[in-house]
Amino acid sequence: MKAHRITLLAACAMAASLSMAQTPAKIKVGLMLPYTGTYAALGIAIENGFRLQIAEQGGKIAGREIEFVKVDDESDPSKATDNVNKLVKRDNVDVLVGTVHSGVAMAMAKVAKDTGTLLIVPNAGADIVTGAMCAPNIFRSSFSNWQPAYAMGEVAIKKGAKKAVTITHKYAAGDESVKGFREAFEKGGGQIVKDLSLPFPGVEFQALLTEIASLKPDVVYTFFAGGAAVKFVKDYAAAGLKKSIPLYGAGFLTDGTLDAQGADADGLFTTLHYADSLGTARDNAFRLAYAKTYKMQPDVYAVQGYDAAQILAIGTAAVKGDLSKKAEFASAVEKAKIDSPRGPFMLSKAHNPVQDIYLRQVTGKENKLVSVAIKGLADPARGCKM
Ligand code: PHB
Repeated sequence: MKAHRITLLAACAMAASLSMAQTPAKIKVGLMLPYTGTYAALGIAIENGFRLQIAEQGGKIAGREIEFVKVDDESDPSKATDNVNKLVKRDNVDVLVGTVHSGVAMAMAKVAKDTGTLLIVPNAGADIVTGAMCAPNIFRSSFSNWQPAYAMGEVAIKKGAKKAVTITHKYAAGDESVKGFREAFEKGGGQIVKDLSLPFPGVEFQALLTEIASLKPDVVYTFFAGGAAVKFVKDYAAAGLKKSIPLYGAGFLTDGTLDAQGADADGLFTTLHYADSLGTARDNAFRLAYAKTYKMQPDVYAVQGYDAAQILAIGTAAVKGDLSKKAEFASAVEKAKIDSPRGPFMLSKAHNPVQDIYLRQVTGKENKLVSVAIKGLADPARGCKM
């Protein structure tokens, strides 16, 4: 009787370990995104896009089940290091996916670099993440702050602007966006007569709009996104400036915001790595699937979330689910052409997308494609030694 019991126990143990060997562990994805505050809608669109891509692969990444651990980072850099450490040290995630805000993303990149954790950035453009902080385990599915801004500097010159005023939130993304615009605008002989800014996430634009009216530049260049972009576009029109001074922006100004901005956004020109009317079979299929699943239209953030999942799937397939094989993961992703709704792209050596930047114009509820402002634009990756 006793012997029989031991045999049974042993059999149970064997069966348990066998079933463990047959069912590979789930991939633990740490989603660190803003779910509250001025960038909340951006975080949701990124998660939607990420989940859509996984759903299209049968709910798995490279055949592995997924477990999400989610953190609302509130776009608050002062809480970022604690938040990311919780995901890495307490929850032991296999990969970090985040975030929207450049200041928070820099804290994530630091922890990823220090601990060797895989990080895929699905929005934040902080130049340094694929510049001086570049690392074999850090990837970006979105853009660098420099990319759309530099393209808009060229567009402004081509449209004949000579004097510009810039206005943005005072933090890495705003500063770098203005810097990118300035680089191309000055190269083309333009002059920036004043840089205006306010602290993130403030929306008290009135005094600054009064200053723009008195400076009378040929154009205004701006970086705002999310809730702040909605209010800025409305206030710019309400101040009577829209009629007299063209407002140019990095495309975030009018992406995911058009329902709320209404006619005040109509006609605005922006530059971005996505547009609402690309008309390719790939993008049409993506837009239809997204609209069906979420009952709303996709935007650039949804695309970037979708492509973050594609990057993860490509790397995971190459290492057959063993995410500790960082070098093999990286080399597969570096060789891959990512089949993005924005158009196919590859990552640079610094792991930032090399991509077409589109000039778009708001027409009704769409960022309509006007032209390709710069084809295959690569971030200069200043300071990256990799
Ligand atoms: C950023 O902080 O890098 C950022 C935030 C919102 C955007 C784009 C960039 O839409």
